[in-house]
Amino acid sequence: MSERIDLAAFPHDFLWGTATAAYQIEGAVAEDGRAPSIWDTFSHIPGKTANGDTGDVACDHYHRWREDIALMRQLGVDAYRLSVAWPRVLPAGTGPVNPKGLAFYDELVDGLLEAGITPSVTLYHWDLPQALQDRGGWPERDTAFALAEYASAVAARLGDRVKLWATLNEPSCSAWIGHLEGKMAPGWTDPAAAVRASYHLLLGHGLAAQAVRAAAPGAQVGIVNNLSTVYPATDRPEDVEAARRQDGHVNRWWLDPVHGRGFPADMVETYGVELPVQTGDLDTIATDLDWLGLNYYFPAYVADAPDGPPPYVRAVRREGVPRTGMDWEIDASGIETLLLRLTEEYGARKIYVTENGSAFEDVVRPDGSVDDPERQEYLERHLAACASAARKGAPLAGYFAWSLLDNFEWAYGYAKRFGLIHVDYRTQVRTIKGSGHRYADIVRVHRGRG
Ligand code: NOJ
Repeated sequence: MSERIDLAAFPHDFLWGTATAAYQIEGAVAEDGRAPSIWDTFSHIPGKTANGDTGDVACDHYHRWREDIALMRQLGVDAYRLSVAWPRVLPAGTGPVNPKGLAFYDELVDGLLEAGITPSVTLYHWDLPQALQDRGGWPERDTAFALAEYASAVAARLGDRVKLWATLNEPSCSAWIGHLEGKMAPGWTDPAAAVRASYHLLLGHGLAAQAVRAAAPGAQVGIVNNLSTVYPATDRPEDVEAARRQDGHVNRWWLDPVHGRGFPADMVETYGVELPVQTGDLDTIATDLDWLGLNYYFPAYVADAPDGPPPYVRAVRREGVPRTGMDWEIDASGIETLLLRLTEEYGARKIYVTENGSAFEDVVRPDGSVDDPERQEYLERHLAACASAARKGAPLAGYFAWSLLDNFEWAYGYAKRFGLIHVDYRTQVRTIKGSGHRYADIVRVHRGRG
């Protein structure tokens, strides 16, 4: 089924983009002075990723970026959201800058601009230099200041050409999946450390936002959060309460402090961990934002789980509903709900959908084509929901499809494919999928009206 998308709802200067992240695509992990990150360490521990996959080679984008820019041109997109690898730029996390690390992004940005593609840079997409982890990582306050030091170095070099900056990608995953659930680097299961990590991530966000603006006047700075619509699995009061806690855990904990509302008191109580607040921190965390980034994938249905760990909820899998290859429920209305919530409850002035997409099992046909009708439908339905939110007043300024390429899907390794472009990991051959062609059509049609 093909969904009708009300493209006229989007402004004429809407940014149509695709997104990736350094560790998921670059490879070349030991080249040109790059040092290991926590993901190099974690992915090399047996049992931590599917099939023992690592980002050692990934899509070899470090060597093939020119080809990848050419593919973006074929898609006809306006923008590209990339992340800079902290361990390439400051291999020790702080201190000396690695000139070759910065040179890579310098050339990449020039290449994008020459191709007429607007770069959007995310500073931290989960690849903390291992050297900083060795000093305690995100649970330590110093890591927040290290992020600002790194942000300043990158913004000083790229800020004359890059205008769109994100400090953090999905800090909720860094804190909760990395330090509480242990399914992502650094793989801890320590609630107190997780809460401290969340705090220092947000402090680092504020400090980095200030550092970017100081080094690159005119920079437009935002933060990228993965938000979820949250529903109780039943109407039992315990489950309704569980849904409130889950909303606090994945949504409010990350939105309230950056909007000057402090950390939600109900969640501070739920976690039962004292926050390491120092004078001025809350103002730093609430540094003015030019835009909000929304990553949306799926809704959550939750039930009470009093045996913990905090926030004492468990996800409930609903039967008989459509799902992606990640086993994530498909519900396009969630993206509209969240765009409107950011607008109405948080007064967002500008929003980018910084990620949205789906994994399915794609196969290359004998004729070389890759047909992915389910991904295409997911894309169309979510764009239709974005258009509906825009009609209702959400200040949506762009949409970045996740992802440009199939890539290293963290603990799921290479088995889960999110790309609009298929990657054959044996040969590194790239093939635009049906969904990629459809996206190109949508962009073209919208432009035609603009
Ligand atoms: C969010 C993350 O930012 C990205 O790295 C990941 O691949 C996608 N979601 C899909 O899970």
